Amino acid sequence: MTQVTQRYAKILGTGSYLPANKVTNAQITERLAKDGIETSDEWIFSRSGISARHFAAANELTSDLALEASKKAIEAAGITANDIDLIILATSTPDNLGGFPSTACVLQDKLGITNQCAAFDVQAVCSGFAYSLAVADSFIRSGMHQKVLIVGAETFSRILDFKDRGTCVLFGDGAGAVVVGASDEPGILAAAMHADGSHREILCVPGRSEHGALEGSAFLKMDGQAVFKLAVKVLEQVAQEVLTAAKLTPADIDWLIPHQANIRIMEGTAKKLGIALDHVVVTVQDHGNTSAASIPLALDTAIRAGQIKRGQHLLMEGVGGGFTWAAAVVKY
Ligand code: UT7
Repeated sequence: MTQVTQRYAKILGTGSYLPANKVTNAQITERLAKDGIETSDEWIFSRSGISARHFAAANELTSDLALEASKKAIEAAGITANDIDLIILATSTPDNLGGFPSTACVLQDKLGITNQCAAFDVQAVCSGFAYSLAVADSFIRSGMHQKVLIVGAETFSRILDFKDRGTCVLFGDGAGAVVVGASDEPGILAAAMHADGSHREILCVPGRSEHGALEGSAFLKMDGQAVFKLAVKVLEQVAQEVLTAAKLTPADIDWLIPHQANIRIMEGTAKKLGIALDHVVVTVQDHGNTSAASIPLALDTAIRAGQIKRGQHLLMEGVGGGFTWAAAVVKY
């Protein structure tokens, strides 16, 4: 009888990058005050858990942030850039209007990859990284790709309306990257992704390009309370879905690495799942909501801090505009 070996997508290395310009709650409060808009460190921190965020420099594009995070992930994986045979880049703030050429293609060139590997962007807003993990997992399991660079990279500061205090204090810029490779040792154990387009208006950039002119607003718009309620509900559902598929329970999870949008959403999800808060990776205080970059940023931070160790079970989950949500259970 032939023994069939299961093929897994295993995390080989991670990396992350935050732009140098760190903006504290006090600094953003001062900036808004100049336009007569009131906010405070107390409001921002108590409602969201955020203390600071980083904003990209004027000449720093999403692909530049992605490049720095990718270089670190490639080094940690112990491979060279030309070993990569697929780049998946999750972003809602691509380098170019209309999203093309894809930021993944720009990144391929900036990394000096000459092997003509496939490269494409994934647009699932804050769920983009969790979506990309699921996509990479299926490409690796099918045998089509061997080493996939997955990146979440954002420059949300460029779509923030600094006259809207309900959103501009929450988001930041950054990038996180993960190299996953084909392995016969367990890696991604289960992944799932979902969407419900009927909720698309609660978190969106409503404008569009119309014959060379901007039609509508190019700023991010959010109904925070509606997003909050939906997020807590779907995150628990998708977490249970992947745990069941992986034949695990919340008690088996060493680290929950949620999308870093709001500490209250993270606490609410952990509580519903019965996962203690000291098993939740929280970095939102330092980088705010970096959308598709938030999970790989948190993952890399916890790995480099020595919190996450080889062999541990990780549950990653994201939720965002679209409305989209996704999760993955990984044996690290
Ligand atoms: O990444 C995608 C997923 N996104 C999210 O997960 C975000 C989900 N939503 C949230 O995190 C929260 O809803 C927010 C942090 C956005 C807001 O927290 P909230 O507890 O839902 O506050 P709220 O929107 O109900 O606003 C409460 C009050 C309002 O004043 P009134 O109407 O009670 O007088 C707002 O006008 O807070 C006011 N407010 C502010 N005050 C000071 C809104 N923004 C600010 C601000 N500073 N920056």
